[in-house]
This record gives sequence, structure tokens and C-alpha cells, in this order.
Amino acid sequence: MSLYHQPTHLLKALAERQQNGLLRKLSLSTPEIDFCCNDYLGFSKLGLLETKLQTTVNIAKSLEEKRNFFGATGSRLISGNSQLIDETEKQIAMFHHGESALIFNSGYDANVGLMSSVPQKTDLILYDEYVHASILDGIRLSYATHYKFKHNDIESLEELIHRHQKNFDNIFVVVESVYALDGDSSPLIELVDICQASKNIFLIVDEAHAIGVFGKQGRGLCNALSIEKKCFARIYTYGKAMGCHGAAIVGSEILRDYLINFSRSFIYTTALPHYSIEAIKHAYQLLIETDEKDKLQTNIAYFYSRSNSLRNFVKSQSAVHTMHVGSNDAALKIEKELKGQNIHARIMKSPVVKPGTERVRFSIHSFNTRNEIDQLLDLVSKFSTGKLLAI
Ligand SMILES: Cc1ncc(COP(=O)(O)O)c(C=O)c1O
Repeated sequence: MSLYHQPTHLLKALAERQQNGLLRKLSLSTPEIDFCCNDYLGFSKLGLLETKLQTTVNIAKSLEEKRNFFGATGSRLISGNSQLIDETEKQIAMFHHGESALIFNSGYDANVGLMSSVPQKTDLILYDEYVHASILDGIRLSYATHYKFKHNDIESLEELIHRHQKNFDNIFVVVESVYALDGDSSPLIELVDICQASKNIFLIVDEAHAIGVFGKQGRGLCNALSIEKKCFARIYTYGKAMGCHGAAIVGSEILRDYLINFSRSFIYTTALPHYSIEAIKHAYQLLIETDEKDKLQTNIAYFYSRSNSLRNFVKSQSAVHTMHVGSNDAALKIEKELKGQNIHARIMKSPVVKPGTERVRFSIHSFNTRNEIDQLLDLVSKFSTGKLLAI
């Protein structure tokens, strides 16, 4: 029994979750075979970024270089800005073929800051029904009208555009290039065509799961499809394949100036300290140099070749693959079996996902061995039969 004076609904909500088998808990023991984390290239897990950064930390001897190393001392607009951040942003913009880049403290902050500040009351946001919670939270904070369209369904999007375009000043179409939920990709070429056909429709693409995986030197899917300059804004996050933390919004100089002035999750927070900026800078260098990208591609191709024929797998060429299992009970059963073989994968239960679309999600990494992939697929293929949905 807690001694704290607190509202009763906290305990009630937790008890309800517990009863439904949905209580989230932080855990320290994770099984060893990793098909769960987002560190697709092993930059963090293999210590690759750490090794690269150690040199920088050791040579940061002068007081000037040590300044703001562990603490930015304030928001970018107050005391937290520096030449290091400005230069890193210029390098990010150049790498991603944009006019400008603006670093945010996380992908969550970037999406919330962008979606809540750019679309206005007289604008419309049309978003894929599967977009990430950070985009949804940003939309909730916006004064713009918003509707979701069916996942990856161009007809559903076009229908909404035709119905509503005349009533709004601008339309913002928001997608992920690679969906966190199933690892499938957006029909980006068609989306670009739709947005380019009207002067007031703008495309926003979250590349969180595409950076490091697709494109020249891991630049992302927009790069692979040569549409970088056709997107109004692109979001690159650094907590996944880049193995560190933070994010950047890449777009025009005007967009950057606007966000600096109006994006509250940029303005009202302490900036990232220099060690985080150094990590981002070095992660980009590592991304260019590393052969982990090739290892990842080999593993993705192998995983795909083996899982392609299995039932209930969503088609994906990315590092994220999912198997739809049909119920929370089935998801929990598979999770237990995976744990029994020391395999860590993520299960997604309802109501986080729609009832009936419960999934098990597998993240493929450069460091997964062929044996690990075989062990995983041998196990899950037992569930990928007609019997599955009846568990
Ligand atoms: C598509 C997508 N966008 C944004 C984010 C948030 O990024 P971050 O973890 O850097 O806050 C995530 C993280 O899960 C994501 O999957």
C-alpha cells in the first residue's frame, strides 16, 4: 500500500490493465537473441559508435571544446546553441540533399513540433492510419482539421482530397516511408505525384525506419526513390539504425526558420548537449564507412526469402517484419515460446493495435547470425499455418 496521497483512478486503470493481461512493465532481463531492438546496424550494441566517439572525447581537451559537453545549459534560442550544432545541421542537410536541417531532442519531439506548428486552423492534415504515435500527438495539438486515410491506400487518400480540398488553404499528407508497425513501405512515388499536382498539397515523410537501411550510403527511402527534394519535410531519427539519440527535420531554409520561431518542442526545451551532437555527427560518418549496411541487407534478404512463403507475414523489404497472429492469446503464446528459446521479439497486442490484427514484430539486424534467423523462423513457421488464428 502506497503512502502517497494520490487519485484513485491511477490504481484502477493499472488494475484493469493487469486484469486484461495488458500491463506494461519495465524489465531488466532480455533474452539474448535479439530480434527486437531498433539498432539495425549494431552501432550501439556492438559498441561501434562508442569506439568512434572515444577519440573525440579524449581529444576534447581545451575548455572551449569541453563547453556544453554534458549539458547544453539552455534552449537553442537562449544559451544552448553552438558552432558544433550549426555545422552538424549543415552536414545533415547536405547528406540528405535538403536546403536545411534542424535538430530536435528526439523523433517524438520532432514530429510533435512539426505537426503542431506548421498546419494552421484553415488547413487539413491527411495521415495514414498507421502513422506513429508522435505524429498523432502532434496532430492532436494542431488547430488544423485532420482525417486519416486507409493504410497505403491511394484511393482512400484521393477521395478525401477531392471531398475536402476546396474547403482548406493547404493539405498536409503525412506518412512514414517505412512503417514502424509492419515494416512495409509507403507508395511514395504515387504520393509525390498527387502532392506535386496541386500547389497547396505538401508531403511529410517520417524516415525513422528507413535511414541506415535504404538509399545510397543509408540515406533513406526518399533517396532511394530520388524524391528527396519533392518532400516538404522529412524526419530522420537517430535512435534506430544510427544507434544514438535525437532527430532532424530536413526541408527548406524557410521551414527551418519557421520551426525555430514556432515549434514549441524545439523552443521550450534544453538543447542536446555536445556529446549527443558528436554522437550524431559520428553516426553519419560511421554510416558512410560501415560494412554493417551490407550485412544487414544480406540478413534482410535471407529472412525475406525464408519468410516470404509463410502465411500471415506482411511483405516487407525493410528491417522490420511482422507476423499477424489474430489475437492477444496467440501473441502471448508465441512470445512464451520465443522466450523459451531465448529469443527476444516484440508482440503487439490490442488495444495498441486493432483487435484481430495482433502481431509479432521481428527486427532484423546486421549482427543476427544465420543460425539465429533459422532458429526464429523454424519456431514461428509452426504458428504460420491454418491453425494459427484458432489458438
Ligand atoms: C516512425 C517513428 N517516428 C518517430 C519515432 C520517435 O523517435 P524517437 O524514438 O527518436 O523519439 C519513432 C520511434 O519509435 C518511430 O517509429
